[in-house]
Amino acid sequence: MRAHFAIFSVAAVLVFVNNASSARILGLFPHTGKSHQMVFEPLLRRLAERGHHVTVVSFFPLKNRPENYTDVSLEGIASLGVETIDMAEFESYNGIVEVPLWIENIMRQIFDINPLGDMALNVCSKLVSWQPLAEALRKDYDVALVEFFNSDCVHGLMHVYGKKVPTIAMLSSGLMQWSADRIGVTDNPAYVPTFSSFLTSRMTFMERLENTIANCYLKLWYRYKVQMKEQEIIERHFGRKIPDLNDIAKNSTTMMMANVFHSLNGAKPLLPGLVEVGGMHLNPKSTGIPLYMERFLNESDQGVVLFSFGSLLKTSTIPEYKEQMIMNALSRLKQNVIWKYENSAEEGTRIGNILKVRWIPQYDLLRHKKVIAFIGHGGLLGMTEVVSVGKPMLVVPFFGDQPYNGKMAEEVGLGLSIPYRHITEKRFYEAISTVLSAEMRLSARRVSKIWHDRETKPLDKAIYWVERVIRWGHQDPLHSSSRDLNIIQLSLLDIAAASIVAIIVLIILTKLLLSLLFRLIKVSFNSKVKDKLH
Ligand SMILES: *[C@@H]1O[C@H](CO)[C@@H](O)[C@H](O)[C@H]1NC(C)=O
Ligand SMILES: *[C@@H]1O[C@H](CO)[C@@H](O)[C@H](O)[C@H]1NC(C)=O
Ligand SMILES: *[C@@H]1O[C@H](CO)[C@@H](O)[C@H](O)[C@H]1NC(C)=O
Repeated sequence: MRAHFAIFSVAAVLVFVNNASSARILGLFPHTGKSHQMVFEPLLRRLAERGHHVTVVSFFPLKNRPENYTDVSLEGIASLGVETIDMAEFESYNGIVEVPLWIENIMRQIFDINPLGDMALNVCSKLVSWQPLAEALRKDYDVALVEFFNSDCVHGLMHVYGKKVPTIAMLSSGLMQWSADRIGVTDNPAYVPTFSSFLTSRMTFMERLENTIANCYLKLWYRYKVQMKEQEIIERHFGRKIPDLNDIAKNSTTMMMANVFHSLNGAKPLLPGLVEVGGMHLNPKSTGIPLYMERFLNESDQGVVLFSFGSLLKTSTIPEYKEQMIMNALSRLKQNVIWKYENSAEEGTRIGNILKVRWIPQYDLLRHKKVIAFIGHGGLLGMTEVVSVGKPMLVVPFFGDQPYNGKMAEEVGLGLSIPYRHITEKRFYEAISTVLSAEMRLSARRVSKIWHDRETKPLDKAIYWVERVIRWGHQDPLHSSSRDLNIIQLSLLDIAAASIVAIIVLIILTKLLLSLLFRLIKVSFNSKVKDKLH
């Protein structure tokens, strides 16, 4: 009997292992940010190359698809987030009336988050009736990789189409305040800063107050301004009720992958099902540097500083006075500078030691030996590339996780951070000079070595975990059951209340007992005295 069972188990395992080598994988990435897709693309590609059948729903279909890789394009649903943000927007911050810093920080987090909700609801309202997606959801899959950023819409759609598939939540960043509950990991605001804060894990009383308020706000914001509204959109479209969207998403999620690694992004609580794969998108192959840039690099004998505010901000909308401050500071450097600036000539616009170019092959340039430092906005992808090559960085954060990333760059010794609105010629020049110092360059190399030191390469780790979920699905519990507790149970408020009641009852009982005892003694004493007197 036992032998039979053993043989059966082995057979079952073999069947599962077999499945894992050519599984049907569904990728759902309904966010318009190109940088997010850049994180997931190498994983999806590699899964197809390993013999899986991969279907990917996204705004960014691949140019050269591997075999057995199917794209379901969302192009046309919403405008893409490429060079769309006007830099003048960040001037208005100067107009805010003077308030204490902690209040300003909370307000910034509250205002910054709203566009993410508008974006999610807009995309969701289109997704519900997008036929190519409906067709993809009618097929069967062994696992689903679902981006977990600002929306749970596709979880609702998977439910509508009866797709009960083990799901891996994919984060192109670290955890946000609404991500932690999905897997049951703690983001206790006493020491876990909110993703959009300026804080580190060691906080003063006021900082903890700020962090707690922001933490609660962000959780409630997601619940009421995104999740419940998406539920409404889905129910309205399909004309029927569905279970709570949060429960649907939570129950199907087996694990979560985050594009972070503790030595850069901070040591935070983890679970077996919360896997750090920071760096998995880094492409070891070079895509090539244009000749005119290479010539510029070659003739720079003091090295080159690379400067880019990433793909979302439209650098050419920078107000003139601010640009002048930056240009003045940069022109004082011994080094040459390559600045990504959209309105430049075909082969770059040269002004003294500065070359403004429309577009940069960022990772290739960072790896070039002439490039010695980076000035960026603190987007996680750029930060990851910089830590990978071990060159120091000046972070000029704008929004989202950028302030936190900048703070972490300082904390770990990768560089310095200076908020955009604090920039003056003098401060900018001094900050770059510090970043270019020998100590900072040495420190960045050390940070890089620690970051690279891992048991498994991040992409291999991601592949292992996807295939593990394919093999075992929900049979392999990777989350903690804290995700099923309500806030009263989780914070032990019921236990605290019961304890207080018990203590009060105990005090009252003790008092009663004592007074009873006291009365008894008094009575017996009195009677003894009476006896003696008689
Ligand atoms: C693609 O799928 C077919 C059918 O499952 C399989 O025979 C083939 O080997 C796969 N291709 C690759 C590159 O894995
Ligand atoms: C989620 O799981 C819980 C417990 O495992 C169950 O009680 C609940 O009905 C499930 N909800 C949905 C929507 O699947
Ligand atoms: C730059 O220098 C390298 C080696 O020093 C050389 O191979 C390359 O051709 C040069 N490129 C240009 C555009 O001058």
